[in-house]
Amino acid sequence: MKGIVLAGGSGTRLYPLTVATSKQLLPVYDKPVIFYSLSILMLSGIRDILIISTPHDLPQYEKLLGTGEALGLRLSYAEQASPDGIAQAFLIGEDFIGSDSVALILGDNIFYGNGLKSLLKKAVNNTNRATIFGYYVEDPERFGVIEFDEHDKVISIEEKPKSPKSNYAVTGLYFYDNRVVQYAKQITPSARGELEITDINQHYLAASALDVTFLGRGFAWMDVGTVETLIAANNFVKIIEDRQNIKIAALEEIAYKNKWITKDALIEITKKYNKTAYGKHLMKVAEGKFKY
Ligand code: DAU
Repeated sequence: MKGIVLAGGSGTRLYPLTVATSKQLLPVYDKPVIFYSLSILMLSGIRDILIISTPHDLPQYEKLLGTGEALGLRLSYAEQASPDGIAQAFLIGEDFIGSDSVALILGDNIFYGNGLKSLLKKAVNNTNRATIFGYYVEDPERFGVIEFDEHDKVISIEEKPKSPKSNYAVTGLYFYDNRVVQYAKQITPSARGELEITDINQHYLAASALDVTFLGRGFAWMDVGTVETLIAANNFVKIIEDRQNIKIAALEEIAYKNKWITKDALIEITKKYNKTAYGKHLMKVAEGKFKY
């Protein structure tokens, strides 16, 4: 399975923070926003990853992440000339995806919770179908919204409906089989001029090939589209990391635990970060201090 991180967009709801830089490069506590989405693909076991951003911002991502070799990844980069919709990722990424299945994550989404890894593995193994994730929110009109019957079977999915049929939002993480590329070619821009990811999900629903996994009590999901959500994410990550003595989205730790990089390679990386708590955490991981 291939992976795509979509990290474009104009970030206007965060101005002036994002006048000169990309939203997904801003900090959430001790690491850039994009680390969180990238970590989710890595936890899913995906190593071939395409990062899509604006022509202006893409070089910054290349500077931050390089070839991905230090993380045991094969990273590629592609430009999205203008923010013409989330589903455009599958057109830009067509050659990269080839004949494979693909997971897409929005670069400003943060997922956290015990048991997440096994849910991700289930989605990867749900072959020839699509898996999306539903999350209870109080403001569903801001999202893609899932309507379902009493057996949790999906009836409809609507993008930012004025009268939402449930409180369950579609999160920014999607696992698809290869037909997603054909679906992306079939859809047309919505009233707001975008190729909507919701239209892709509607195709899968019509083909009876859409599965929804609900992220329940044990999970936190947030995007960092506004200053309020950005500061909430910062606070959340700091509190969890301090209290649990862990690091969320420490990419080198995940690579090491996935056996994609050696202990020596991990120790080498910690030298670069040795002035920070992030680097000290990685050293403790290399020393085998944690049982988890
Ligand atoms: O966060 C989950 C929601 O994401 C879903 O519930 C919705 O169904 C989905 O349409 C999307 O809604 P948003 O209104 O949050 O999408 P937004 O336009 O803010 O884009 C989400 C991220 O994707 C944002 O960080 C920028 C990036 N993006 C967006 C578009 C439209 C791109 O990189 N390129 C694009 O063309």
